[in-house]
Formats: sequence, C-alpha cells, structure tokens
Amino acid sequence: MKLADNKATLSFSNGTPSVDLPVYHGNVGPDVVDIRKLYAQTGMFTYDPGFLSTASCQSAITYIDGDKGELLYRGYPIEQLATNCDFMETCHLLLYGNLPDAAGKANFTQRVSNHTMVNEQMQFFLRGFRRDAHPMAIMTGLVGALSAFYHDSTDINNPEHREISAIRLIAKMPTLVAMAYKYSAGQPYMYPKNNLSYAGNFMHMMFATPCEEYVVNPVIERALDRIFVLHADHEQNASTSTVRLCGSSGTNPFAAIAAGVACLWGPAHGGANEACLNMLEDIQKMGGISKVGQFMEQVKDKNSGVKLMGFGHRVYKNYDPRAKLMQETCKEVLTALGLENDPLFKLAMALEKIALEDDYFVQRKLYPNVDFYSGIVQRAIGIPVSLFTAIFALARTVGWIAQLNEMIGDPEYKIGRPRQLFTGSVKRDVMPIAQR
Ligand code: ACO
Repeated sequence: MKLADNKATLSFSNGTPSVDLPVYHGNVGPDVVDIRKLYAQTGMFTYDPGFLSTASCQSAITYIDGDKGELLYRGYPIEQLATNCDFMETCHLLLYGNLPDAAGKANFTQRVSNHTMVNEQMQFFLRGFRRDAHPMAIMTGLVGALSAFYHDSTDINNPEHREISAIRLIAKMPTLVAMAYKYSAGQPYMYPKNNLSYAGNFMHMMFATPCEEYVVNPVIERALDRIFVLHADHEQNASTSTVRLCGSSGTNPFAAIAAGVACLWGPAHGGANEACLNMLEDIQKMGGISKVGQFMEQVKDKNSGVKLMGFGHRVYKNYDPRAKLMQETCKEVLTALGLENDPLFKLAMALEKIALEDDYFVQRKLYPNVDFYSGIVQRAIGIPVSLFTAIFALARTVGWIAQLNEMIGDPEYKIGRPRQLFTGSVKRDVMPIAQR
C-alpha cells in the first residue's frame, strides 16, 4: 500500500475543525481513505453497515473488478486458471503466491495426499447426528472438532502450525464432506485413495461402495475440479471476513474455518446454490418454462419476498466471470452424460435470457452469479442438493486459509472490533420489581 500525494479532508458544518486523512493507493482498484485516527482526532466513528464502502484489510490474494466482471487470483485471470490449471495448482497459488512447476506441484499434491484420512474417532462423532441432519450442520461441527484432534497445530502465531493446519484442512475437507454424505445415505464410509486426483478421490469417497470397483469419469472429474477452482477464493466476502474476524482473536485455524463454514451456509452467500436449484425445481413443478413470466413478476414484486436466486452480487455489476465458465462446464457435463435436454438447464437458460432483457434486472445491474449453473452441474453429477454448499465450503477452504494466514502475517493486523452507533436507552435506574 502506497501513500498517495493527495489527502482527503473531512470538514464539518458546525465549526468542528476539519481533519486531513491519508489516502493510500493499491496496485489496482479504488484508493482508500485511512480513517484509523479519526476517532482519536474527532471523537467520531464512521458508519458503514454491510461494509459497502469499507476496506477491512489490505490483501494481495484476489482481485475483483466488479464493473468489468474480472476475477484474478494472484494476478492470474480466472478464465486462464480454470482452463490451464487444476485445483492443486490453484491451492498452491493462493497459499504461496506462485504457480508451481511440475516438481513443486508433485510435492504439494503429495503433502496434501498424506493427510487425506481423518482420525477414526471422527466417525463416532458423526454418529451423534441425526441421519437427516443438514450437511452444513455436520460440517460446521466436524471442522470445529478437528481442533480437538490436532493439538500439535493449533497455535495460529506459529508459522509451522499454520502450514500443517492449512494442508490438513485442504486434505481432509473432501473426506469430511463425503463422510457426511455417506452417513445420510446409510452407506459405509470409503477411505481416500491417494493415487487419484483431488477431485477423483472425492468422487471415489462419494460414489464408490466396497462392493464394486469404481471408475472415475474424467469429464466429471474435470468438472468438479473446475467447480473447486472457481470457488477457491473471492476476496473479502462474508465468510472470508468471518474467518478473518474469528481468527483475529488468536483462535486456532480449525475454529476459524468452522466459523467460515457456518457463515457460508446462508442463502445470501454459499447457500444460494442449493436455494437456486430448489427454485428451479419449484418453477419446473409449477409448469416449467411457461411459468417463467409469472415467476418473474413475483421476483419484481418487493412485497413477495421472492428473489431470483443465483442472480445479483454485491461486487459484480456485470456478468460474474465464474458463471460463464460454469455454464460452459454445465453444457459439457450434460452432453457427456447424455442429458442435453435436461429441463432444468433449459429452464435456467430461459430465466437468464428473460432476466438479462428485463428492465428491473438491467437497471439494477443484476447478472447470473456462479451459483446459477453450479447446482445443475452438481445435480447432473449425482450430488444431492443439500450437499452443494458443503462442496462450496470444501473448495473455499483454501481461500479462507490463505486469507487467514495473510492476516496473521500482516504487521498491521489487530483483533477485529467494530464500533457502533448506539440507539438504545440512555442510562437509567433499575426500579424495584413491584414498581416496574
Ligand atoms: N432477485 C431480485 N432482486 C434482486 C436480487 C435478486 N436475486 N438481487 C438484488 N436484487 C435487488 C434488490 O432487491 C435491490 O433492489 P432495490 O434497489 O429496488 O431495493 C437491488 O437489487 C440491489 O440489491 P441489494 O440486495 O441491495 O444488493 P446486495 O449487494 O446487498 O446483495 C446479494 C447482493 C445478497 C447477492 C443479492 O443480490 C441476493 O440476495 N441474490 C440472491 C442470492 C444469491 O444468488 N447469492 C449468491 C451470491 S454469490 C456467492 O455468494 C457465491
């Protein structure tokens, strides 16, 4: 962050002296006004619920240009990464800042593979859940529980602990998600197979049974890997900010990532992929494409409370670049599985076309986000709808860890402690109960 030549001057209409505030440039993107000394200088806070104009940290990991619809991981466009790199290379890039060469990739993949199993006790912990528990409820519990198994790596201030926790979390997330699925299906857990790719191993743990040899379909393996790459990081979104805030207290990495999982669950964030597919299925039940117009009227009616799930984004005011890639993957998977005429895919395309031409969406710059097509891909692969957000969590884990580790390494980091504008009762006395 570079100090700019110009300053921002904050003046007041009531005679309070004005204050000069430093301005910093990033390498690209909007400048920031540094308000850290504002309270000391004026006795005032800034007010920005939802962080609409507030940079909560400096970061060198992911950059989004929401107007252009551009997403870069460490400077590399998502389109190039999704086309030329796999998830292991993407993880290496996010964690260490560079794309590995062949030897570096093999070494990193080997390190992750070494940690794919979870402690056998984990399955007994899982057994405490109802069979119909939501996978995100299970994941919140299981990820937090990892801290009880790895006492040797819970010191967030120790770089070696942070490194081994990062590798453990990336390695174990697929195992935990697959266990949550197998538990709900009443099938035996499948141990990881380390000769498979990261995505291939996940498919094996999900879909194999001890009775038959399972052969990984390369088209589906590539599609899943792409889902992982596209979801790997997205700068300071709600769950990442949750991880940073949680980690800022010095809690252990497993606890901080569990907080991220819990935040991701919400339908305004990662839960949108599940909500989007449920929405498409509901419209299909109502009569499909012929009912799209009626559904859109509901979406545009503010009193209905209905949103077009998978549309809109706080940052993107243009097409989410991940949605384009996901639509491409969606076509590939449906063709490979002979599902070209999938009614939900056709419905999604019809909805998208109508929305992109409708004034309501055009004026508000609402475009499809990554979740619009990811559910259709996952459903075609055979993943149950309730597991979609857990797969998002699996993929986002690397981003959360990279951001958490970046925060700990930042000399300017402090415990996160927002302030407030108090609108409650001023000081008053407690009356004896008979007089209240
Ligand atoms: N359907 C209908 N109207 C919408 C939608 C939508 N999906 N999204 C936004 N709008 C409208 C709002 O009602 C608002 O209208 P108004 O100005 O007339 O009041 C306007 O567009 C601006 O929307 P906000 O809600 O103010 O935008 P915000 O940045 O707070 O919300 C969010 C972004 C939460 C993603 C929102 O667009 C949404 O709820 N989308 C649906 C859920 C979804 O797909 N979430 C996934 C996000 S991507 C991810 O997490 C991977």
